[in-house]
Amino acid sequence: MADDRVALVTGASSGIGRAIVLRFAAKGMRVGLTARREDRLREIAETIEGKGGEALALPGDVRDPAVADHAVRSVVEAWDRLDILVNNAGVGTRAPVDEIDDGELRCQLETNVFAPFYFVRAAAPIMKKQKSGQIVNIGSVAGLVGIANSSVYAATKWALRGMNESWRDELYPHGIKVAYVAPGYVISEFGGRKEDLSVPDAEWALTVDDVAHVVETIVDQGPNSDIREIVLQVLDRS
Ligand SMILES: NC(=O)c1ccc[n+]([C@@H]2O[C@H](COP(=O)([O-])OP(=O)(O)OC[C@H]3O[C@@H](n4cnc5c(N)ncnc54)[C@H](OP(=O)(O)O)[C@@H]3O)[C@@H](O)[C@H]2O)c1
Repeated sequence: MADDRVALVTGASSGIGRAIVLRFAAKGMRVGLTARREDRLREIAETIEGKGGEALALPGDVRDPAVADHAVRSVVEAWDRLDILVNNAGVGTRAPVDEIDDGELRCQLETNVFAPFYFVRAAAPIMKKQKSGQIVNIGSVAGLVGIANSSVYAATKWALRGMNESWRDELYPHGIKVAYVAPGYVISEFGGRKEDLSVPDAEWALTVDDVAHVVETIVDQGPNSDIREIVLQVLDRS
């Protein structure tokens, strides 16, 4: 039987977010997609619709709280519910602390910390009313350790993990599950790279679908199983 749950995925225009959306849609889920690149979102939505699925492209900058409110409202207006929220949109750059300017500091905090907060704030009342829901926060192994030249990025992913723990405590009485996914290095467009599996790093790094597979596993748990955190390290850590 097709899976008719309703999901909203941020950062769906590329990489991990796109892979999650495609996995969800292949199961039959109805999916809302948000990110800034509207052309990419429309292309993905058309691919899903071409296969008989349902998708809603909701372009916007997640640093704007109105975008979260609008995305959640649009999904609920279209499909009457919201079962799954994946906070995936994220940015990061590597730089020594004395080379990070205020704009970069603010951008990473607003995208990786404020935006997930905005989306959970918008989704919580809907999920509470339903007495069910699954939130998945895409963090990073940088949210478990400190990394030279990545202090801001690590701070944002630790902060997201802190919110994940707090939301777990706060929302489980309402039947809402919250999980943190912490991948290691993934071949994607992250940090201005290319999602290109012919690069030498692809021989050892994770693929975007490795992460999407984990997210699918989380959302497919039985009613009594509540995954707290999954860390995906690359096999070769030499
Ligand atoms: N790649 C890795 O090695 C790695 C490892 C661990 C964790 N992660 C995490 O995985 C998540 C996804 O990254 P990825 O690897 O798939 O990289 P990616 O291909 O660059 O994807 C990032 C996504 O976030 C969206 N985004 C960024 N800023 C945004 C904004 N202001 N408003 C709306 N959307 C925004 C981008 O869309 P637009 O540009 O179209 O807005 C894009 O869809 C991030 O949270 C990242 O921290 C990545």
